Amino acid sequence: MNATQEQLKVKFEQALVAAFGAEYAGVDPILVAASNPKFGDYQANVALSLSKRLGKQPRAIAATIVEELDIAAICEPPEIAGPGFINLKLKTAYLEAQLQAIQRDPRLGVPTVKDPQREVVDFSSPNIAKEMHVGHLRSTIIGDCIARILEFRGHHVLRLNHVGDWGTQFGMLIAYLREVYPQALTTANALDIGDLVSFYRQAKQRFDADEAFQETARQEVVKLQAGAEDTIHAWKLLCQQSRLEFQVIYDLLDVKLIERGESFYNSLLPGVVEDLDKSGLLVENQGAKCVFLEGFTNREGEPLPLIVQKSDGGFNYAATDLAALRYRIHQDEAKRIIYVTDAGQANHFAQFFQVARKAGWIPDDVELVHVPFGLVLGEDGKKFKTRSGDTVRLRDLLDEAVNRVRADLENRLQEYGRTETEEFIAHAAEVIGISAVKYADLSQNRTSNYVFSYDKMLSLKGNTAPYMLYAYVRTQGISREGNIDFEQLGTEAKILLAEDTELTLAKHLLQLSEVVSEVEKDLLPNRLCEYLYSLSDKFNKFYENCPVLQSEEPVRTSRLGLCNLTARTLKLGLSLMGISVLERM
Ligand code: ARG
Repeated sequence: MNATQEQLKVKFEQALVAAFGAEYAGVDPILVAASNPKFGDYQANVALSLSKRLGKQPRAIAATIVEELDIAAICEPPEIAGPGFINLKLKTAYLEAQLQAIQRDPRLGVPTVKDPQREVVDFSSPNIAKEMHVGHLRSTIIGDCIARILEFRGHHVLRLNHVGDWGTQFGMLIAYLREVYPQALTTANALDIGDLVSFYRQAKQRFDADEAFQETARQEVVKLQAGAEDTIHAWKLLCQQSRLEFQVIYDLLDVKLIERGESFYNSLLPGVVEDLDKSGLLVENQGAKCVFLEGFTNREGEPLPLIVQKSDGGFNYAATDLAALRYRIHQDEAKRIIYVTDAGQANHFAQFFQVARKAGWIPDDVELVHVPFGLVLGEDGKKFKTRSGDTVRLRDLLDEAVNRVRADLENRLQEYGRTETEEFIAHAAEVIGISAVKYADLSQNRTSNYVFSYDKMLSLKGNTAPYMLYAYVRTQGISREGNIDFEQLGTEAKILLAEDTELTLAKHLLQLSEVVSEVEKDLLPNRLCEYLYSLSDKFNKFYENCPVLQSEEPVRTSRLGLCNLTARTLKLGLSLMGISVLERM
């Protein structure tokens, strides 16, 4: 609900009490956006819902409400339509005043929340020594956008990277490290062991081929858990190497994260098992400690437990998540904990959420949310792979986007005989290429699978980053062409709305705050993309229809004001997705 709708709602509530008495306080006026602009901007359906209670015809009820309704400052006189709908049309003067107000507001009418809270966004979360794959890329992009929006609303956001930095696979890696880089374990300096992913592959090969090596690997796991100095040293080395590789991607994407990997919670794991035991939830099943769940069964229909501690004493993924959850609630004081992972992990989250609830660990004011997303597919509709069938390295994937943009840009420059500095070209290519990858992901409803297509995401047409960036560039072109300093025109342009396309654009501009709070609630960034895409469409229609620079004052200033507001809205909206604009492209 936007501020206007909010205000109208209050007015309706007052009218209902005035018309029918105090017991009608709190009745929902059922105020919705009009389905068709023909009927105005909003529609209240309360008269129909009260018909039974009041024993009267809805149209008569509507008439009584309208009589008491004090909305002359906001709307034209309301109209009663059909069986008893109350149709409302916003007054032009009201819209003009609203636009003028957001013009003065650097936040463009999006308020900060009154009661900011601590929110955890657990996202990205790749695994040490393994490939950071396209699934992690989606998590990184979606998680960052969610975090940006929550931050913009004024919440205290903890951006946590729940890196997979612990587990039995380290035994194998460390044992292999000892063999191939014995010096790594004794020197203090970091050592470049090259590409960790191929290191992992080699270690795995060695592991699979040799039983004696497997035993050594198992011993390394024990030593790691016991905190043996040289083993810990090797483990740290591997983590550090991965960290450097991940950081390259985060830098390219301009994403900030706090690393708090699984190992961080190690010392808390026995406490989790102990407390589950105390609350009577723990069951021993073939030596493993587990909790039985409601609503989860295996293929045979037998109840499926969540295993927290394996029979060999090792804790697993779920145990760590339970420990992390408790830490986030008690130490971080988080009120909402958001996990951004692929939909394939939905059961894992549903399960450990359920266990934590049963154990009574989740206070009423804490919300747990799994934000699932679909798979990344290639253009052939199959799992995303390189031509040779390998998994795509993220670094290569991002570089490719940038390189394609660069080639395209250089062609266009040549075609138009434009010359630009190398610095400009490199910067523009990077901004457009990276934005395209981000926007293509965010503009999809995250719950569906998404087809990764350079051609589509880099197109200047359609709901793409290049299109949105170009829309912004166009608004800047107007200011250049007219020699107008938008800064100076700034915040006090007198807005006058007369043409339909102006009114439509104006109303859309006023909706930003509603969209942002929707995304804050539903965590669906594609809504923001749709809003911005529709904004650029409405702007284009306005711009085709209404001369700006050629019109007379005071209309000229007003229209420039609309251009400026559109530009500012695009820039702000894109910034919430981690996309920065260009002045030219
Ligand atoms: N490391 C996991 C993966 O690569 C994702 C972790 C998600 N966060 C969590 N708290 N479980 O699939």
